[in-house]
Amino acid sequence: MLRLFKKKYEARPIFAPLVTDMHCHLVPRVDDGSKCIEETIECLQTLQAVGYKKVIITPHFQHPRFPNDEDDIRRRYEEVVKQAKDEGLEIELAGIGGEYRIDSGFAQRLENPRFLKVGGRYVLVEFSLHQQMMGSDELIFDMQMKGYEVILAHPERYPYLNTNGMRMEQLKNQGVYFQINALSLGGFYGEEAKRRAHEMLERGWVEFMGTDTHNTMYAQALRDLSNNRKVEKLIEKYQFLNNTL
Ligand SMILES: [Fe+2]
Repeated sequence: MLRLFKKKYEARPIFAPLVTDMHCHLVPRVDDGSKCIEETIECLQTLQAVGYKKVIITPHFQHPRFPNDEDDIRRRYEEVVKQAKDEGLEIELAGIGGEYRIDSGFAQRLENPRFLKVGGRYVLVEFSLHQQMMGSDELIFDMQMKGYEVILAHPERYPYLNTNGMRMEQLKNQGVYFQINALSLGGFYGEEAKRRAHEMLERGWVEFMGTDTHNTMYAQALRDLSNNRKVEKLIEKYQFLNNTL
């Protein structure tokens, strides 16, 4: 019989060894992530189903697209915590962080920083997905000089950052933590990002893995990925720092 729809698999808890998802966009209506609390709850149910025990939510801070304010985000996060509790979710909401875009407004942010840190310790930053911003590496270096521990979000997704290029190695050598997206391993962002993510793992360059869940489409992709035995083996093989958060 012709099958018109892709088979929907049950979620498997392959992410259990990581314990904590430390990158997702599940505070509703503050960025390009979840659009409502119902979508947030559905995504949290998926994170729970694929094995996570804890989750840290990391809204975008990006000038001028997502001009979020830390205090406002904290308040909205508390509403998510309350709703998740009311829904009886088992997954622990383990804090609020941010995903800070290194953009034209970032230097100013660094003058008066109020970063929402991942696990109260790390600042999660991202680059533009399209083009390299001049001086972005220097800004990361400035942060490190000020004592911040910096995680670069999904380095495998930047087309201008090549695993064989000097720049990625330089960032690694200067102590920047790398976080790959779980979905990259299955090809969700294309073959190139997939190849880079695998290569970075092999080189021992990856400290964190995040889901970067934005909505129910990502959640479904995660459920599908949880049936990927190769990815399951990789999660068992490599040591990540997620479980220290
Ligand atoms: Fe993200």
